[in-house]
Amino acid sequence: AGLAVAGCGGAAESAGELLASRVRLPEPFTVPLPIPEVARPVRPGRYEMTQRVAAVEILPGLRTEVWGYGGTFPGPTFELRRGIPAVLRVRNELPVPTSTHLHGGVNPPGSDGYPTDLVVPAGHAAPHGHPGEVHHPVAKDYHYPVEQRAATLWYHDHRMDFTAPQVWRGLAGMVLVRDEEEDALPLPRGERELPLMICDRSFEEDGSFRYPQAHGGHDHSHARDPDFMEGVEGDVILVNGAPWPVAEVTATRHRLRLVNASNARRYRLRLSPGGRFTQVGSDAGLLAAPVAHDTITMAPGERFDVVVDFSAYPPGSAVTLLNTLAGGPAGNVMRFVVTRRAPDDTAVPAVLSRPPGRPRPVAARTFDFRRTDESWTINGHRYRPGVPLARPRLGTAEVWRLTSDFHHPVHLHLAHFQVLARNGSPPAATDAGWKDTVDVRPYEVVEVLARFDGHRGRYMLHCHNLEHEDMAMMADFDVI
Ligand code: C2O
Ligand code: CU
Repeated sequence: AGLAVAGCGGAAESAGELLASRVRLPEPFTVPLPIPEVARPVRPGRYEMTQRVAAVEILPGLRTEVWGYGGTFPGPTFELRRGIPAVLRVRNELPVPTSTHLHGGVNPPGSDGYPTDLVVPAGHAAPHGHPGEVHHPVAKDYHYPVEQRAATLWYHDHRMDFTAPQVWRGLAGMVLVRDEEEDALPLPRGERELPLMICDRSFEEDGSFRYPQAHGGHDHSHARDPDFMEGVEGDVILVNGAPWPVAEVTATRHRLRLVNASNARRYRLRLSPGGRFTQVGSDAGLLAAPVAHDTITMAPGERFDVVVDFSAYPPGSAVTLLNTLAGGPAGNVMRFVVTRRAPDDTAVPAVLSRPPGRPRPVAARTFDFRRTDESWTINGHRYRPGVPLARPRLGTAEVWRLTSDFHHPVHLHLAHFQVLARNGSPPAATDAGWKDTVDVRPYEVVEVLARFDGHRGRYMLHCHNLEHEDMAMMADFDVI
């Protein structure tokens, strides 16, 4: 019954189904690149943010209703410092419940954004004291200890069964953790450090977001549009919420904090007319040493912290960031226009940091990511909240073998991991460093070494194709 999966044989590079916009798309590289506001604490270590509906101009001349953290899309960027804990109060003024997950964060379970740990719209809170009723607050304090290394993280909605449509409507933003190890490096900073949150969307004629309709309830058995099974890809590529934007840069090194915040789209990034990305950091922080790439393949949820040296191009050049996995509009991402030469005292040193080494694993487990009927499963199970598939011990490391029938970007909450092997062969150059999300490709076996550090309690692993996630491709694990 419709079980054929495009991508059998591993040839297809697309993870999802293209949903075409019904509006005339703007010329690429005409809209200036916006940089999200940096969140200001209300007092040291204390932030407040309201999720609300807002109308913003994404396509020139049209209004798009977004559901935004702080009413913006992307939400504000949080700059946190290792060793300085932060409390984030999220208030929900949207018409729907939410749960906010700090992706890549090493946080206590109560602040991890578990899918049923909901913050409900004011006026929808269940009354206190009704037997059997779970009380959901209208605002929640998320406690972030920020004991982790400098890294590019992001935050997004994680509501049970509705993550994909709610992120699509705008609930995502970036977090930059900084520390002394990073401060000491001569990497580009200030205006020469650009957070770049990349995601695809489709639009209706009136400028509103286009997203397929789900039919039925939220019992994991909902029959959705069959096209929806593979995940939803839009034809408009947004960077920091702007379609195919353009940014002026001096002919100097720039540091790009790349985040793939797309629901289902994978990108293979390349610079045209040529050029290299010097990777300095992975999902979970700085690499030990830089790695040069001609192309970077990025699955949903992954981050790459790279330096591009624009002094390699004559002033006046246009340097285009392409996505070579797509033709047509989605083959463009953004453009840099090199303005003029300028002094540059930055460098990418041969030694960047001292990341933690690889601990010896104490156990090995297999997690099989596979389609069955109308949902996506892990080890044959649709998501069962509260039923852990694994109980790793705090302070230990384990080898987790991830097998799959399709493209599944596998994400672990709490635990950071290193990729050990793909199909028994050494990992790809872009698998370097400590990560929290790995691009598992069709019929691949990816082995990772995961560390369970920081906190005991209930966490999860899941596919970060957000439609797969909503179609039950999640599991709990308990750190004991
Ligand atoms: Cu970025 Cu559990 O997700
Ligand atoms: Cu998946």
